[in-house]
Amino acid sequence: MRIIIVKDYEELSKRAANILASQIILKPSSVIGLATGSTPIGTYQELVRLYKSGNIDFSEVVTFNLDEYYGLDRYDKQSYYFFMNKYLFSHINIDRKNVHIPDGKAENIYIACKTYEKKIKKAGGIDIQLLGIGRNGHIGFNEPDMKFEALTHLVNLDEDTIKANSRFFNSIEEVPKQAISMGIKTIMNSKKILLLAYGAQKNETIYNMVNGRITPELPASVLQLHPDVTVILDKGAGSLL
Ligand code: GLP
Repeated sequence: MRIIIVKDYEELSKRAANILASQIILKPSSVIGLATGSTPIGTYQELVRLYKSGNIDFSEVVTFNLDEYYGLDRYDKQSYYFFMNKYLFSHINIDRKNVHIPDGKAENIYIACKTYEKKIKKAGGIDIQLLGIGRNGHIGFNEPDMKFEALTHLVNLDEDTIKANSRFFNSIEEVPKQAISMGIKTIMNSKKILLLAYGAQKNETIYNMVNGRITPELPASVLQLHPDVTVILDKGAGSLL
């Protein structure tokens, strides 16, 4: 695990965007795994800036998002589909047929999850997966559990996650209780991983992810087993390392 601690959120976002931009410059048809949450917003803004200044071209890039709330359609302002359009896709020259986000309204979840996995495989696998991390150590929506869930699946969200994510909704009742998420194996199969975290409220989670036992009770701890992980933290998130 390569750990980079930077001074603030702005520098974190620039570093992360530069890593993703290099990937795209070196391989224009890169398959990029994308994340939502507040953490990657600055990275997306920086990528948009790099695109607008002519430094990167998304025309051949293929993307797969980590997760989506179950029950929300793509037009819902709280959906991750809406989020991705708002912060990234509507500002860049990505080909819409290359964008993949789990369908929150899928009628047959089992088939939808299998198809998502097949599409990732058909695209040649994920070259670099961007990750945030939940306070409880979740990645994507892989919540603390007794076992690592391998592939894309339907998740029951933790109370803690529902509470944390309620800040984006009018009330806690509006937060969906389930989501579709890539599994741990899906994430671990990506060639490279780039995890971002900021703020002192995540410092213990980060400490345990890096130094603790590898356990499904802290899903991100599994990243210790991946051969190519870069973690970018601000001073707060890295304060216990
Ligand atoms: C959600 C997403 C995760 C994300 C997490 C952290 O639960 N499913 O992929 O990492 O939020 O969010 P934030 O970056 O806002 O702390």
